Amino acid sequence: MSPNDEQSTTLFGNGDELPSNHSGNPHINQLINQGLARRQVVAGGAAISALAFLGIGLSTSAAAAEPLDALQERLKGLPFKRNRLPFSPVAVTRADTVSVPPGFSAKAFIPWGTPLTGRYPAFAEDASNSAQDQAEQLGMHHDGMHFFPIDAQSGHGKRSDHGLLVLNHEYIDAQLLHPNGPTTVDGKRTVADEVRKEINAHGVSVVEVRRNATGDWQVVRSPRNRRITAATPMIIAGPARGHALMKTRHSNSGTWARGTQNNCANGHTPWGTYLTCEENWAGYFASQDGEQPREHSRYGIGKTSRYGWETLAGDEFQRFDASRRGADASEDYRNEPNQFGWIVEIDPFDPQSVPVKHTALGRFAHEGLVFAPVKPGKRLVCYSGDDAQNEYIYKYVSRDSYRPRKSRDKNHLLDIGTLYVARFDADGTGTWLALDHADPAFQSACAAAGVSFADQGEVLVNTRLAADIVGATKMDRPEWGAVNPDTGDVYFTLTNNSSRTTGDAANPRSPNPYGHIIRWREASRDFAGNRFAWDIFLLGGPVDDSRDPNGQPLNEQNILASPDGLWFDDEGHLWIQTDMSGNQLSNGPFGNNQMLVADPKSGEVKRFLVGPLGCEVTGISQTPDFKTLFVNIQHPDDGSTWPDGAGKRPRSATVVISRDNGRRLL
Ligand code: FEO
Ligand code: CA
Ligand code: CA
Ligand code: CA
Repeated sequence: MSPNDEQSTTLFGNGDELPSNHSGNPHINQLINQGLARRQVVAGGAAISALAFLGIGLSTSAAAAEPLDALQERLKGLPFKRNRLPFSPVAVTRADTVSVPPGFSAKAFIPWGTPLTGRYPAFAEDASNSAQDQAEQLGMHHDGMHFFPIDAQSGHGKRSDHGLLVLNHEYIDAQLLHPNGPTTVDGKRTVADEVRKEINAHGVSVVEVRRNATGDWQVVRSPRNRRITAATPMIIAGPARGHALMKTRHSNSGTWARGTQNNCANGHTPWGTYLTCEENWAGYFASQDGEQPREHSRYGIGKTSRYGWETLAGDEFQRFDASRRGADASEDYRNEPNQFGWIVEIDPFDPQSVPVKHTALGRFAHEGLVFAPVKPGKRLVCYSGDDAQNEYIYKYVSRDSYRPRKSRDKNHLLDIGTLYVARFDADGTGTWLALDHADPAFQSACAAAGVSFADQGEVLVNTRLAADIVGATKMDRPEWGAVNPDTGDVYFTLTNNSSRTTGDAANPRSPNPYGHIIRWREASRDFAGNRFAWDIFLLGGPVDDSRDPNGQPLNEQNILASPDGLWFDDEGHLWIQTDMSGNQLSNGPFGNNQMLVADPKSGEVKRFLVGPLGCEVTGISQTPDFKTLFVNIQHPDDGSTWPDGAGKRPRSATVVISRDNGRRLL
């Protein structure tokens, strides 16, 4: 979403939540007197890399203790798969098209409204499709995405010409969704079918796709095609299942939920299921209560909602009204917001499967979920950022080990485990702090803060508060994470932060309009451990306020701002997608939103794609043969008519990228 904070609470604003971290957590440089001076941090490159990778305080870590120059020397002796990124950089542009380097092509695919299931209703260019039509068509605002080879669950998962493309529909543009925008009277919604259409334009699409003999991708009319919406029934799993804070008029047992919404980035499990992440969900609810409970206030639930769904009569809409209206929680929807902010698992290969909300992974504005390398006999480890200003980065470690033959998570790897939050220290090291009700350190932190939780379910519903208590580091809006397949280093985008008033080592600029990319290496490369070493990989921004991975200013082939999407291909290239908005997008030196490729080995960063006007570039996945790359273009705007051309409504769509010579992309 665009970081347009002023619009957060206005009807039909586009979205991000206002900052709601009012904790007294100090910034790093208040915590540690001998903090790194700002100029040392923004000097970037070797100095800070060496500091971090010296592994200060990591006496158990041989890997982390290796000085950077020694590491680089050692890497020189290794046979590199490549020397340079083999494409010409795309220039900054504000053209209303998708630009890729010579020798590559990009074709729009499955835009919003593409017929997908049921009656396969055709897209009406005047947006007159009904709510039911929308439930049978691709949703709006494509975001996180994964290509599952058709044999992902039944074989080796190597099929590159046939699979399930699963993608999120983050939010909607109500002006474009309806022929003449949404109908309102005195600030209230009056047309139920309009609101149902909005609910149905959210969620996830499962699309069976096949590459034909001429190399073009097509939608297969398959019983596997599926729409999951903001009304689809879901199971609640993990420690908060059945908790008193999860009970509603609809689900007296607190074990069922309706729908998933504001699904931003994604993940996928080693057993071939999709993970969709609920990000800016708080704005879908309103509460008229004078005093908000902590599980609302810490997430920014306000008196008005973004789309006004709760202003319509009927249970399907009233559930978005989180006010106390009945005698207890079984008579109203005061707890409905507690059923959102989770990671949701979807089995794309079973259209009858019920999606599962995994509460052990925490409740916050989940951007995405990225797994550390998965090894049989080892515990599962995954990372997720909370994308709001001054929020945190989390890690989850399963209690039990991954056993491939027990696929489909029979041992509940995503339901039984420990959630941690990151503290980045100024000396280039960091610590994972457990948010575990049974952990004495957590208990004493709670006691010191004067906060109590009855059980782990209550801790998880209040994940942000629990993280405040243990002293996590406030970050500049954590977006996507990615794990380097060659080194195991974890990279995270910190997209920007207009509200930062005090810089710290991990978030050195205040305010931070351009964003940066941080990375860390787990001590001893033990992903389940609780110590790490970190550094800053890249500072976004104009030439005079940026640093590339080698400590040099960004230049015309790679200036970027507001990094958001982040992904490693199998070859170890880091793909960076941007989500600039407002003035940065319309007037800055950066042009339209873009996608770049970085080679962490050489430090080279080059722009690979520029999207059409007003769009965000987000969502990325490859076929196993790497001859196809799928990328999403979200919310083309600002006069855009992409992809259909002059006079047409702009539509979010996937683009299919391939090489003209038919070879691997890179
Ligand atoms: Fe939906 Fe944080 O981007
Ligand atoms: Ca964003
Ligand atoms: Ca977005
Ligand atoms: Ca994003």
